[in-house]
Amino acid sequence: MLTAQQNELLTRVGSGTPMGETLRRYWLPALLDWELPEADCTPVRLRLLGEDLVAFRDTSGRVGVLDEYCPHRLTSLWLGRNEENGLRCVYHGWKFDVTGQCVDQMNEPKQFASKVKTVSYPVAEVGGVLWVYMGPKEKQPPPPNFAWTSVPAEHRVVTKVVEECNWLQALEGGIDTSHAPIMHRALRANPSQPGIPVNDAFVQGAAPSLEVDVTDYGYRYFGIRQLGTDQQYVRGYHFVMPWTQLRPAGRGVQNQTHGHHWVPIDDYHCLVWNWYYNEAMPLDKGEAGPEETGNIFGVDVDAENGFRAIRNRSNSWLIDRAAQKTETFTGIVGINTQDRAVQEMMGPIVDRSREHLGPADKAIITARKLLEEAVRTVQDGGDPPGVSPNYYELRAAESVLAAADDWRTDLLPRMDPSLARV
Ligand code: FES
Ligand SMILES: [Fe+2]
Repeated sequence: MLTAQQNELLTRVGSGTPMGETLRRYWLPALLDWELPEADCTPVRLRLLGEDLVAFRDTSGRVGVLDEYCPHRLTSLWLGRNEENGLRCVYHGWKFDVTGQCVDQMNEPKQFASKVKTVSYPVAEVGGVLWVYMGPKEKQPPPPNFAWTSVPAEHRVVTKVVEECNWLQALEGGIDTSHAPIMHRALRANPSQPGIPVNDAFVQGAAPSLEVDVTDYGYRYFGIRQLGTDQQYVRGYHFVMPWTQLRPAGRGVQNQTHGHHWVPIDDYHCLVWNWYYNEAMPLDKGEAGPEETGNIFGVDVDAENGFRAIRNRSNSWLIDRAAQKTETFTGIVGINTQDRAVQEMMGPIVDRSREHLGPADKAIITARKLLEEAVRTVQDGGDPPGVSPNYYELRAAESVLAAADDWRTDLLPRMDPSLARV
């Protein structure tokens, strides 16, 4: 459990809050590159860490992310005209370039544009995603560089969806390996809804013991499940501060790592990024991924309408109680839809002072501890973990091994090549 004060510290993300200032030290995944497909295209509104923003791609192809509200009299620049290397407010015609500099004022006979600059944030285009940095200029880390962002575009799939609760709740659900083969399981072979198959090692294995190795980027963690009397199933994950999980693809899938970023929109909403990639070859359409996770645009996610989940709190995630009796554990279609359902039902910000945690919650307890430490580090003028290059090569891995085998020898070099080199 956490005290009410700790819960506030970890969950509030607005400007000036301790966690808000800490999260502003990282690049935030913000938009898919195709949301701004070409020069002078339609601007896009977005909200990150409680700030309303507008993004546009100018005539030269540069992307600007500005405070949404025009600094003249505060209407939305999203209504604006994207023209000749700037976004022009339609109210009185003030125009801003990608740096936020005002360059023209149609309503002023004696212009003072050079004296007006609005809030603008740096943007990096990496891995088909536009990332935004909202922190102090002198502390800006190198652009993000995950293994998934460095493969060719046809080797990866990236989606996103809005979740209607605080970011930490979503993150804690994602790094919680003990729930996965319980909540996400199918109840029989060939169920009418997707679920982890009944004969999968994940479901067949006993409840896991957890090991967490704290590292300089966050931690790696392992769910170790006894499988019958002579085997063990070990899943190795990474948590990269402050909001990234890398997880093994499962079910004998080779050369793939899957994962998420849970990025705060504000205190009560977050954007869940879902990605997976194949290191060795382009992904086939229909390969294990969004089909069963409930993240397909147009089917599960309304990408035309702010990336809202189609099965969401307002329609009870379309839970099917008959299917829950015979097909899947939850009766909800989509593994990540199931995640969102339980996390959103905890309320916008869960009261962690009422919890009863156990050893199966070790990864969650450690994440909270590292996040709290990162806040202190930033307050003391230091750099938080997860901004330096030590996470670039990380991968997830899993194995079924003999019960007596040393799973670390098998998994660690595959999960972190720097460990194989020492
Ligand atoms: S409010 Fe934008 S120019 Fe006046
Ligand atoms: Fe889950």
